[in-house]
Amino acid sequence: MSRETVSITDRIDAATGGMRLRRLRQADWSRRLVRENALSAADLIWPIFVREGGGEPQPVASMPNVFRLSVEDCVEAARRARDLAIPMLALFPYTDPSLRDETGSEALNPGNLVCRATRAIKQAVPEVGIMCDVALDPYTSHGHDGVMAGERILNDESVEVLCRQAVVQAEAGCDVIGPSDMMDGRVACIRTALDEAGCRDAMIMAYSAKYASAFYGPFRDAVGSGGMLKGDKRTYQMDYGNSDEAVREAAQDLAEGADMIMVKPGLPYLDVLARLAREFGVPTFAYQTSGEYAMIMAAAGNGWLDGDKAMVETLTAYKRAGASGILSYFSPMVAAMLRG
Ligand code: PBG
Repeated sequence: MSRETVSITDRIDAATGGMRLRRLRQADWSRRLVRENALSAADLIWPIFVREGGGEPQPVASMPNVFRLSVEDCVEAARRARDLAIPMLALFPYTDPSLRDETGSEALNPGNLVCRATRAIKQAVPEVGIMCDVALDPYTSHGHDGVMAGERILNDESVEVLCRQAVVQAEAGCDVIGPSDMMDGRVACIRTALDEAGCRDAMIMAYSAKYASAFYGPFRDAVGSGGMLKGDKRTYQMDYGNSDEAVREAAQDLAEGADMIMVKPGLPYLDVLARLAREFGVPTFAYQTSGEYAMIMAAAGNGWLDGDKAMVETLTAYKRAGASGILSYFSPMVAAMLRG
């Protein structure tokens, strides 16, 4: 047979052995039938920003459709989460600058904003989980997650305060304690402090691989710590060149008693997420950060991409990489869309 007489079809069949991978993609029903990973409302954790006082929600300039809510509106958000079948909210306080100090003492006030919001939500909507960050940055005048001496962030002194912060939050009704401070040994100390305070049921979702990242900018605006931050967080948050170190961080947090682990930021770190999910086989979460949210919203706002499609695609990508769930500012939007 001369070369010219072989049809392109014969040539493709010879190369593929007749296997045409496009066959399964030809209809919506067949694509749905063979889909490996799909997002559901149960995968979502919805971060919300709490502020003092009443009145209208305050927009966060760098995060379109995200607002700082009064305690009352947080309760409303919890009802919405329940109705949308979103399992958990993560609460972050915008602390008035007058309440910030060097040691973040407002973090230990059982009547502080997150504690009041937690109590109000747990009373009105107990079936929705509440997660609170353990870190001092919403409360310190320097914007760091720990206690400072000169230019240094002190590890052990910070852990002491963080343990007390965790207990204060758990006693207010917080279900999941999220140490996001990246101090060494904090998970073990927090677990012991919770147990000694009688809060044995409080779960720990450790921010295990939290990188020093440019993707937290809008969040720091939202909680009011951006302008205050002295220097950067590279002496405690991870170097983005590292992946083996993330395995060591996660192993350490699990050995110390973490119930769940997290990788943050999200999309640029899917390799780390996939690696930890496979390596440990424990509930592993991703945080789609404020910066990732802002990028999608900015591009969508300019008409440069379809925001709704990018939202579902990125969230599904986390699932594909092995995430048990995702903290995302898109949570209420995507849950409503999945329902519709
Ligand atoms: C506080 C904290 C941060 C985020 C969650 N908890 C900011 C930071 O570490 O500077 C970022 C969340 C986001 O960007 O959406 N330690």
